Amino acid sequence: MRIKYAVSVIFIVALVIIEKENNIISKVSDKLSPKLTPLTPLLRPTASVSSTQGHNRSVLSNISQTEISPYRVNNSIQESPSPASDAGGRKHILLLATTRTGSSFVGEFFNQQGSNMFYLFEPLWHVERMLTVESGGTNATVAGPAYRDVLRKLFLCDFSLLESFIEPQPHEHVTSFLFRRESSQSLCEDPICTPFVKKEFERYHCRLRRCGPLNLTLASHSCKQKKHLAIKSVRVRQLETLRPLAEDPRLDMKFIQLVRDPRAVLASRMVAFSNKYKNWKKWAMERDVPVDDEVRKLKGNCDNIRMSAEIGLKQPAWLRGRYMLVRYEDIARFPMSKAADMYNFTSLPFSSKLEEWILKSTQASKEVTGLYSTQKNSSEQVEKWRFSIPFKLVQLVEKVCGPAMTLFGYRFAENKEMLTDKSVSLIEEKNFL
Ligand SMILES: *[C@@H]1O[C@H](CO)[C@@H](O)[C@H](O)[C@H]1NC(C)=O
Ligand SMILES: *[C@@H]1O[C@H](CO)[C@@H](O)[C@H](O)[C@H]1NC(C)=O
Ligand SMILES: *[C@@H]1O[C@H](CO)[C@@H](O)[C@H](O)[C@H]1NC(C)=O
Ligand SMILES: *[C@@H]1O[C@H](CO)[C@@H](O)[C@H](O)[C@H]1NC(C)=O
Ligand SMILES: *[C@@H]1O[C@H](CO)[C@@H](O)[C@H](O)[C@H]1NC(C)=O
Ligand SMILES: *[C@@H]1O[C@H](CO)[C@@H](O)[C@H](O)[C@H]1NC(C)=O
Ligand SMILES: *[C@@H]1O[C@H](CO)[C@@H](O)[C@H](O)[C@H]1NC(C)=O
Repeated sequence: MRIKYAVSVIFIVALVIIEKENNIISKVSDKLSPKLTPLTPLLRPTASVSSTQGHNRSVLSNISQTEISPYRVNNSIQESPSPASDAGGRKHILLLATTRTGSSFVGEFFNQQGSNMFYLFEPLWHVERMLTVESGGTNATVAGPAYRDVLRKLFLCDFSLLESFIEPQPHEHVTSFLFRRESSQSLCEDPICTPFVKKEFERYHCRLRRCGPLNLTLASHSCKQKKHLAIKSVRVRQLETLRPLAEDPRLDMKFIQLVRDPRAVLASRMVAFSNKYKNWKKWAMERDVPVDDEVRKLKGNCDNIRMSAEIGLKQPAWLRGRYMLVRYEDIARFPMSKAADMYNFTSLPFSSKLEEWILKSTQASKEVTGLYSTQKNSSEQVEKWRFSIPFKLVQLVEKVCGPAMTLFGYRFAENKEMLTDKSVSLIEEKNFL
């Protein structure tokens, strides 16, 4: 009974996430507002700005040791006594994405897998938060190696390095501030779910049942007992920075890169991170040219995504059989078959529990009345952004992100009419396998 309830609540949450992306886009034009603020593409609490400065814990000193020659396997092996030359059938899956690409939903493909999987949702949030500099954003030279090292430790079920980035600092490896703990089933089940302590405030607490603060020692034990591991992150910028993970014989890495039409992403972000995109809205309404800095950031994002994909698709020796590119649009249209592809790629069994979950979460839109009743079919849904984003912005994205769009098979809208012509799809059918 309780499990049934849990499953349905979780799929509704996931649906709401995907629905938000879809429905909210249509409100873009209503929300156009003429105020000016600087843009930051990253979601980040304001409290973080000064957190790097004057920070007492020497977090970075432990990172930079490995930074010197990041691409040598040797470093990683010496780090700790390494067992046999393989991971013993254990899979280590990293879902790489950027914000507003449906990565939370795709992450559920692994979170819902069942009791074999240890799943972590955006652990690098803490790293980014601590490394955010005063001008906003992070310095890639510093953040890249930090992300890489934290991920490596986590894939080895070692939370110690992540702990050094959690603020306030965990006490005896117990924290009540792990970002979005509730998004990870593994962190909310027995034995990690310790008895609820009333006096302890936990910001990101488990929702289906109340648990005590998170004991990371317990989490580590539980992680080691699971057969496989999956981590989702929207923070890694360049796939190449993770090469040492791919080459680490203790890990059997599988990278899944999730991409989405950058025009749709912009439309979605303008709604979701409304304050940060005020300049774009202003520009869409008036004649002003958008601030160079913001166009540069958009270009930077697109270039990073494209370069990562180019490396992945080229299949260099270190990545062979370890990289898969997936488009949001294909997942939205063919969720079951794409999920099956991902499981085939990772050599994991496609569990009936997961199949059921996908079936339910994609059918629910028809069953649930009211909230989701406006949903049309998925093909229509994924291209809905076309009817709300100003053509001017579409042109700009196409100019700046053209190479990425071509690589991923997103057709350019030659004019306003083509943009809003329902009979023309802007998604080319493309097989990246
Ligand atoms: C920071 O470090 C200084 C000396 O290194 C120490 O006196 C101070 O208490 C520390 N502050 C915190 C918040 O740990
Ligand atoms: C850095 O590494 C040393 C030795 O491994 C460890 O004792 C120390 O706690 C680490 N510091 C941080 C902040 O993680
Ligand atoms: C790894 O390190 C050892 C000594 O630390 C060295 O003898 C060996 O040549 C190195 N291997 C590679 C591939 O660099
Ligand atoms: C980023 O950090 C590196 C290493 O600390 C430093 O050399 C570089 O100047 C920084 N870049 C920016 C843009 O701050
Ligand atoms: C966390 O869990 C470990 C392992 O069960 C236990 O030894 C430790 O006492 C726990 N820490 C706290 C503060 O309860
Ligand atoms: C699974 O992947 C293998 C290659 O790794 C391929 O030969 C096979 O056809 C795939 N199966 C399905 C059902 O896609
Ligand atoms: C879904 O919408 C697309 C585009 O409007 C249309 O071509 C397709 O036939 C529709 N499919 C179903 C099952 O209604």
